[in-house]
Amino acid sequence: MELLKNKVLQEGKVLSGKVLKVDSFLNHQMDPVLMKEVGREFTRRFDGERITKVLTIESSGIAPGIMTALELNVPMIFARKQKSLTLREDIFVEKVFSFTKQETNEITVSRKFIQPGERVLIVDDFLANGEAAFGLARIVEQAGAEVAGIGIVIEKAFQPGRRVLKEAGYRVESLVRIGSLEDGQVTFAEDGE
Ligand code: G4P
Ligand code: NA
Ligand code: NA
Repeated sequence: MELLKNKVLQEGKVLSGKVLKVDSFLNHQMDPVLMKEVGREFTRRFDGERITKVLTIESSGIAPGIMTALELNVPMIFARKQKSLTLREDIFVEKVFSFTKQETNEITVSRKFIQPGERVLIVDDFLANGEAAFGLARIVEQAGAEVAGIGIVIEKAFQPGRRVLKEAGYRVESLVRIGSLEDGQVTFAEDGE
C-alpha cells in the first residue's frame, strides 16, 4: 500500500535495529484518513471471505480495526489485556508472551461476543513474532468460530510472525512489509513470501 509506505518513510523512526516508531500516525497520534484507507484495503483483500466480525487487541489495533469493521459493515471487538485476573466463566482467556516487552499478558474477550460459526477477521497494527495474532486466533477457535484471515498494518518480515501464522494455516495479509531496519534505514521486503 503506497500511501502507507510513504508515511513510514516520511514519519517512521528506527529505534535500535528492530523497532520502528510510528507514533505520529498509528501508535499515539492516529491518522484517520490513512486508517480509512487501511480499512478499505483490508476489505478489498478479504473480499468474499464472508466476515461477520473484526477482532483486534487494545490499544493500537482499535483504529485500523474499527475502520475495517466500518467498511465491512460488521461489529468490531477488541481483546483486553491484563496482567492477572481471577478465573471467570464468561470470558475467553489466552496467554500472550511479548518478546519486545519481555512480559506475559492475559488477553480476554467476553464469550457473548463471538458465536460458533462466525467468520472472524483478525486485525492488528504490527506483526513481529506473531504472539498477539496467534492468541487472538486461539480465542476465535475457543469460541467455535473460524479465523477468516489476519490483516496486519505493518509487518516486520525479518521476524518470524508470518511464518508461524502461515504454518498454523492462517491467511496473512500485510499492508507493508519491512525487510530490514538495519543502520537506521527502513527497507521494504518484496511482496509475497
Ligand atoms: P507479536 O505480538 O508479533 O509477537 O509482537 P510483540 O509481542 O513483540 O509486540 C509487543 C508490542 O509491541 C505490541 O504492541 C506490538 O504491536 C508492538 N510492536 C512490536 N514491534 C514493533 C515495532 O517495531 N514498532 C512499534 N511501534 N510497535 C511494535 P502492544 O504492546 O500490544 O501495544 P499497543 O500499541 O497496541 O498498545
Ligand atoms: Na502496538
Ligand atoms: Na497491537
